[in-house]
Amino acid sequence: MKTIVANWKMNGGHVLAHALAAASTPSKHKIILCPPLTLLSHTKGVTLGAQDCSAEHKGAYTGDVSAAMLKEAGCEWVILGHSERRQHHQETDALIQRKLDIASASHLGIILCVGESLAEHEAGKAEDIVKKQLSFLPRHLPPTMRHFMIAYEPVWAIGTGLTPTNEQIDTMHQFIKAQVADVKVLYGGSVKPENIQEILAIPSVDGALVGGASIDPSAWKKIVQS
Ligand code: 13P
Repeated sequence: MKTIVANWKMNGGHVLAHALAAASTPSKHKIILCPPLTLLSHTKGVTLGAQDCSAEHKGAYTGDVSAAMLKEAGCEWVILGHSERRQHHQETDALIQRKLDIASASHLGIILCVGESLAEHEAGKAEDIVKKQLSFLPRHLPPTMRHFMIAYEPVWAIGTGLTPTNEQIDTMHQFIKAQVADVKVLYGGSVKPENIQEILAIPSVDGALVGGASIDPSAWKKIVQS
């Protein structure tokens, strides 16, 4: 069984949430939906995750939502370190580590996103960048981080229709697994109904993190049923 995670980003309303939740079953895969926070209560009958959490436990942080609040709102998972957070909110590895510690203390499963930019890819630095983004993790994760996955999302493949070759995906996934023992690694970046099967067939790929195609009910249904 592989894991397929939907990252809706800042999209949708309650009508779409109902349609996407309905399209998420049945599946032979483990399905996790990560809607915007306002749609959590409209996304029923599925495993839920959030797209981010605060780096603080509680207090005077206007606009932020804590890991404990997400847990109370029904989330079992949280995506951390997405490249859009790194880019638009200047999130650093140190901040992401803080969020990770707080999220695990709140018993949320974590999906940590890593991946290189186009310039880094073209300069042959993908592995260096990913290694640095993983550097705060121990090689052997503590038992408190049992629910932990890494998503390899090359920034140049997100929303562009471009994907690495299957060989490039496999090489990076094996590299990540050499850094962190016994970790599940998902692939993300332009996953579509047309390529999901061949991507999931790569043995080092434990699942997929899907953006654009996860907010189109018919495309999402095909992915879920792949
Ligand atoms: P796309 O599937 O739209 O390329 O987005 C991938 C992504 O960022 C998922 O987190």
